[in-house]
Amino acid sequence: MSSDEIGMIIDEVIKGPDGKPLLLPLLYKIQEKFGYISKNTAHEIAKKTKIPFSTIYGVITFYDMLYTEPKGKHIIRICNSPSCYLNNLVTLIKFLELLLNIKSGQTTKDKKISLEIVSCLGCCDKSPAMMINDQVYGNLNEHKIKKIISRLR
Ligand code: FES
Repeated sequence: MSSDEIGMIIDEVIKGPDGKPLLLPLLYKIQEKFGYISKNTAHEIAKKTKIPFSTIYGVITFYDMLYTEPKGKHIIRICNSPSCYLNNLVTLIKFLELLLNIKSGQTTKDKKISLEIVSCLGCCDKSPAMMINDQVYGNLNEHKIKKIISRLR
């Protein structure tokens, strides 16, 4: 990604009272465009916005939804919070890992699917739950997961 492209995105993002772009919307927008935010990109953002690199990189590495490396076309986020955990989550994660032939935190070799374990997705009434990109899937079981994954491939 070029410095000019980053500059254009910075210009589009809402500014705070200090005249600097709001960091989270900026980072999401950059990730939306390029898929992830590398260290080099974070340095470029720091240079252009005058926001310290440590602040920018701290935010990127703090939030589960921001990535420092390329991810698959489909990102599966499976919830590991109490309601889901108590509903057979560990078995379902193992099932997903077997099905995809990867471990949590990894991406399939064909770069189609990444698997991540995250905190509560806000749909505990449907636990166990996962999201694939922006879509929520709840009341999961092995049969349901198998069907969902086969539609992704
Ligand atoms: S605990 Fe899993 S969605 Fe809330």
